[in-house]
Amino acid sequence: MKKIIALLFLSANVCFADDIAAGRAKADTACALCHGVNGIASMPSAPNLAGQQAIYLSEQLKNYRNGKRHHEVMGVIAKPLTDAEIAQLAAWYSSMKVTVEAAP
Ligand code: HEC
Repeated sequence: MKKIIALLFLSANVCFADDIAAGRAKADTACALCHGVNGIASMPSAPNLAGQQAIYLSEQLKNYRNGKRHHEVMGVIAKPLTDAEIAQLAAWYSSMKVTVEAAP
């Protein structure tokens, strides 16, 4: 039983690693211009995505896609994304490690 659980865990991790790599490739060409190569926004009016929760990122992208969250640019960008691509992009940005320092 333990072995089965370990195997399941391992395969889940492998899928996740594939998602991260696919998300990175997509983000480098489609998102980095505004959200930065490292997920820290390079455009002042765009939010940082590095280290954000995957569930939150997926939800927002789906909301832009279906118009529940309205934004001219993100609406156009999210429209053609498939559920799989959204999961990959969310996996990539949420895999980034961020550290926070309290204000002195
Ligand atoms: C041309 C610039 C631009 C590009 C390219 C772009 N974005 Fe955005 N993105 C924005 C802006 C501006 C916002 C803030 C929109 C708002 O106010 O709702 C935003 C918001 C978001 C949010 C919501 C973040 C939050 O904190 O709620 C997500 C998620 C997101 N973008 C993901 C992506 C992904 C993934 C891509 C690539 C497929 C991408 N964006 C490409 C400009 C861009």
